[in-house]
Amino acid sequence: MANAAGLDAFKEIHETEKKAAGKKLKVGIIGTGWIAECHAECYQKMDDVEIVALADLIPGKAQAFAERFGITGARIYESDEAMLAGEKELDGVSICTYNCQHAPCAIHALDAGVNVMLEKPFTVTLDEAIEVMRAEKRSGKLLTIGFQPRMSENMRMIKKIVQSGELGKVYYIQSGGGRRRGIPTPFGTSFIEKSTGGIGAVGDIGTYSLDMLLGAVGYPKPLTVTGYTSDFFGKDPDYYPGHPEYADKFGVDDFAAGFIRLEGGIILDFRISWAMNMDTPGDAIILGTKGGLRIPSTDCWNGEFDKPLTIYKTVCGEEIEYEVPLKPTKDLFFEKLRSFVDAIQTGGAPSVPSGEIVYNQAIIDGIVRSAALGKEITIDIPEV
Ligand SMILES: NC(=O)c1ccc[n+]([C@@H]2O[C@H](COP(=O)([O-])OP(=O)(O)OC[C@H]3O[C@@H](n4cnc5c(N)ncnc54)[C@H](O)[C@@H]3O)[C@@H](O)[C@H]2O)c1
Repeated sequence: MANAAGLDAFKEIHETEKKAAGKKLKVGIIGTGWIAECHAECYQKMDDVEIVALADLIPGKAQAFAERFGITGARIYESDEAMLAGEKELDGVSICTYNCQHAPCAIHALDAGVNVMLEKPFTVTLDEAIEVMRAEKRSGKLLTIGFQPRMSENMRMIKKIVQSGELGKVYYIQSGGGRRRGIPTPFGTSFIEKSTGGIGAVGDIGTYSLDMLLGAVGYPKPLTVTGYTSDFFGKDPDYYPGHPEYADKFGVDDFAAGFIRLEGGIILDFRISWAMNMDTPGDAIILGTKGGLRIPSTDCWNGEFDKPLTIYKTVCGEEIEYEVPLKPTKDLFFEKLRSFVDAIQTGGAPSVPSGEIVYNQAIIDGIVRSAALGKEITIDIPEV
C-alpha cells in the first residue's frame, strides 16, 4: 500500500525526470510596465522557467524591457492577442496590464488555453470578474490572482488564530491601513485615469485589506453594501508638485468606505485611502465572542503589516493582552509566482482562487455602485 514516504519518493523521481528532460515552462508577460519588472526578475530566478514572449501596446516598450532585463530570445508583440495568436506553446502568462485590461487579457488567454497569473485587483467590475470566471471554467485552465501578501506566514497566522476558535464566534471585522499621501503616480497616470485604472484606492490597496480580513474569516458571501467614495485629493492640482495636469486626469476614488453585511452575521466596517488628512484610519480589528485581534496599521498600506499582532482576552476574570511575535518573511513576490508555476507543473489548485476573490470584487463593485446611487444595495453574484 502506498504511504506518504513512498509518494514523496515518487515525487522526487518525477521532479528529477522532469529536470533531466530539461523541459522548461514557457511563460509570457502581457504588459511590460512597472510591476512586470518584478514578474520578470522572479521568473529569471527559476531555472525551470523561460520567458519566451513579451507584449505591450506601446510600440518599442516590450523590446526595451527585454533589453533592460536581458531576456534575449523572447519574441516581442504589440498586444496580448497578437502574443496569444503567435505563441502556440505557452504554458502560462503573467497579466501585468492596468486594471481595465485585466478582464479582456485574462479571457483571451484562458480561451487560448493558457494558464493565467492575473495581477490584482481581480478586475474593475463584478460583471467582468464573472466573465473571467466563465472563461476559466470553459477553458479548464488555471487562474490565480496576484496577492503576494497571502504568501506571508504572518498573514497566515491571522487566519490560523481565527480558524482555531481562539476568538470564539467572530461578529465584527474592521479594516485599517490606508495612506496619508500615497496616490500612485510615480510611473505615470495609469492608476488614476478612469480609462486605465477604472477604480482607485478601493481596488488598488482596498482589495488587500479585504483579502486579509475575508480570508481570515473564511470568505463569507457579501449580502449588502453601503458605500462611499471621494476624490478630494486626486482632483487637487496642488497635490502633484510639477504635474498639476494630473488633477484633470484623475477619474477614480482616492478614499472609500463601506458598511457590509456578510453571510453568517458578520459585519465588515471598511475604509481605505490613497490620501487623507490623517496618519492612519486605524488598525484592522477582528472581534469575537472569546477574544479580539488587533492587526497593526502601517505608514503606507500595501497589504502587509510589520508589527506584532495583539490578542485581547479575559482569563480568570482578568483582562489580558498578549503579542504574537512576527515571523521572518520570505520574498513574497517570488513565492507568489513560484506557487503559480508549481500549480501548473503539478496540476495543483491556484493559491488565490477566483471563487474567493469574486466576493472581494463584489464588495469593491458594491461600494462603487452604492456610492454612485447614494444608498444601500443588495449584492447579487451570478452563478458561474
Ligand atoms: N502586486 C503588486 O504588488 C502590484 C504592484 C503594482 C501594481 N500592481 C498591479 O499591476 C497592474 C499593472 O500596474 P503597473 O504599475 O505595472 O502599470 P503600468 O501602467 O506601468 O503598466 C501596464 C502596461 O500594460 C500595457 N498594456 C495594457 N493593455 C495591454 C494589452 N492588452 N496588451 C499588452 N500590453 C498592455 C500598457 O501599455 C502598460 O505599459 C495593475 O493592475 C496594478 O494594480 C500590482
